[in-house]
Amino acid sequence: MRIPLIAGNWKMYKTVGEAIEFARELISFALPDSCKVVICPPATAIFSLWEAFRGTSIELGGQNMHYSVEGPYTGELSPAMLREAGCKYVILGHSERRQYFAETDRAVSKKALSALENSLIPIVCVGETLEQREAGLTSEVISGQFRDSLQGLTAGQITGVVLAYEPVWAIGTGKTASDIDAQQVNGLIRKLLVEKFGSEAAEKVSIIYGGSVKPDNVRQLLAQPDIDGALVGGASLDAKSFAEIIIAAGVNK
Ligand code: PGA
Repeated sequence: MRIPLIAGNWKMYKTVGEAIEFARELISFALPDSCKVVICPPATAIFSLWEAFRGTSIELGGQNMHYSVEGPYTGELSPAMLREAGCKYVILGHSERRQYFAETDRAVSKKALSALENSLIPIVCVGETLEQREAGLTSEVISGQFRDSLQGLTAGQITGVVLAYEPVWAIGTGKTASDIDAQQVNGLIRKLLVEKFGSEAAEKVSIIYGGSVKPDNVRQLLAQPDIDGALVGGASLDAKSFAEIIIAAGVNK
């Protein structure tokens, strides 16, 4: 059985002080233990949050990483650094990284392999733009990103990966994909997993959805058979709305 996963992507929001304030507020809510909760803060706040969440089941993730263990790469973070600061997860290939920092599928696959080798769970993001959707290219784009971003992974390794479908047109726009549209793509990803890794491995992989997830739409999204959780941007910045999302997800599955 796949346990629902709710991950908050804070992007470039919150100082250390603001992050600690958020943690205090979040743990004051009665959160269900029926889903996994992950917060991916800016790197500066990871260690302080790890301390603030100690004794709870809330986990932390990075928003990006370099595939090397160490090296002369100014401004980058290695998987070992993320691990030691308190991360269990790392988001890879987010559309903002692809769009603004020229991250390619090839780079995502190297990072995914490196994350796995260094005991981090990669959350690998795929998603089409509005132009691609309107041109009827959604399946083609998702299939291509799936193939190239997961290149070199084995069936044993894929079960340690989380996949996130994030339609670019739904990120930060307030436009959520309908539960039917999201299920269609998450279902396609499950089918691609079966073809590439076999059905036993495919059934174990969590496929989450991201793009304007809010307390009032999360339940409907998670009711779909292949939507195993949510990657939440804007609504994860407010402790109350993030708690409401976790609570709604907890009663859903
Ligand atoms: P959003 O962002 O929830 O603000 O749309 C989602 C994401 O970028 O992961």
